[in-house]
Amino acid sequence: MRGSESNEMSFPIERVRAEFPALALTDGGRPRIYLDNPAGTQVPKRVAEATARALLETNANLGGYFVTSRQAEQTIEDARERVAQFLGAASSREIIVGPSMTSLTFRLSRALARRLAPGDEIVVTRMDHDGNISPWLAAAADRGLVVRWLDFDRDSWRIEPSALDRVLTHRTRIVALNYASNLTGSINDVRTLVERIHAAGALAYVDAVQFAPHGFIDVAHLGCDFLACSSYKFFGPHMGIVYGRESLLEDLEAYKVRPATNDLPWRFELGTPQIELFAALGATIAYYDWLGEELGEQGDTRAKMRAAFAASRQWEEQLARRLIEGLQHLEGTTIFGITDPASAEDRVPTVSFVHAAISTDDIAKAMADRNIFVWSGNNYALELVRTLGLNEEAGVVRIGAAHYNTAAEIDATLEALEEYVRSRAALSSR
Ligand SMILES: Cc1ncc(COP(=O)(O)O)c(C=O)c1O
Repeated sequence: MRGSESNEMSFPIERVRAEFPALALTDGGRPRIYLDNPAGTQVPKRVAEATARALLETNANLGGYFVTSRQAEQTIEDARERVAQFLGAASSREIIVGPSMTSLTFRLSRALARRLAPGDEIVVTRMDHDGNISPWLAAAADRGLVVRWLDFDRDSWRIEPSALDRVLTHRTRIVALNYASNLTGSINDVRTLVERIHAAGALAYVDAVQFAPHGFIDVAHLGCDFLACSSYKFFGPHMGIVYGRESLLEDLEAYKVRPATNDLPWRFELGTPQIELFAALGATIAYYDWLGEELGEQGDTRAKMRAAFAASRQWEEQLARRLIEGLQHLEGTTIFGITDPASAEDRVPTVSFVHAAISTDDIAKAMADRNIFVWSGNNYALELVRTLGLNEEAGVVRIGAAHYNTAAEIDATLEALEEYVRSRAALSSR
């Protein structure tokens, strides 16, 4: 065992794990080690049960006078209300839900670009997932906008305010940036960056997909205009969510069918919603209530969520430290991202690396053979991979912990990696 286990006892890891039935599954007698969390997390039982209940008991389209239709509407209202609480939004009218963050961002970027004129500028970063880049590039191509690229700092692995200042001009209209990187795991100081974006007269569209599973979000505190996340990354159903400031949404013209309401947020939600997934979404947020209560928090829902994230982050920081230390001891590896334990709070527990002699795919496959789930590739952080000078397809090996992972799982993964790297070295020296 690496490191000390002593301060790990305060987090109710066994009770947390018991909430997620998939964590107990085995394949051919081998346990699964889920470290593919940045690509998608497992769900608590209550989330799957809520989906089943919605389909089995209250399945109907919206707008009818009969009981199931009214129940389906209630399901959506409840879920939206909970998501508003989860993000610290002032109203559920600010919560747009759809199939994925990417599809919603294309949708919102089109509506926003309608108001822009040729020569207006938008800023995208070299740190973002392409879901927060390509929609803006497409909008720029359609409307004759100027695209400015914002680099991350190679030492801090974050977007430095001074770099932002260099790309902002009086023509900047929108800055699209992320809260946390899906590849390096580093967290941006969004509040500070948003202040500067606003001072330049532009809007901030924040991709919080990778932050949301690991940190307490408060859109009011951040001051951002839009914030996107995906519930399947934080223990929920496959859905995307965008918070938009009500006064801005009110002014935005949506691409929609004529008979559909122009009310908020409905004007941005096209066609019949995935009602059973809304049920799951509500249950996902309720899970944080449960976790907060397990941790002894007696306050309101936000207080419980805050407690849940505070404890989860502490737990995850230990996992990340263990993982990083182990990878640093593994001959031939290079980690891309913050490794200094003193800056642990500036990262989520997503750790990416390459090996000098073994391909990323080979490593991911070798881990899969041992039932350890990790990812290889660019993870759609295409610009980031290019900036690092890595092969675009091969990218990195990405290992991403969640609050339900254990130190033993990290150790087993490190041992498997060590054994695999040793066996490859032995083969090549023959
Ligand atoms: C940082 C980030 N942004 C956006 C996305 C895209 O999310 P979705 O699959 O909901 O479109 C992902 C998915 O991996 C991501 O990691």
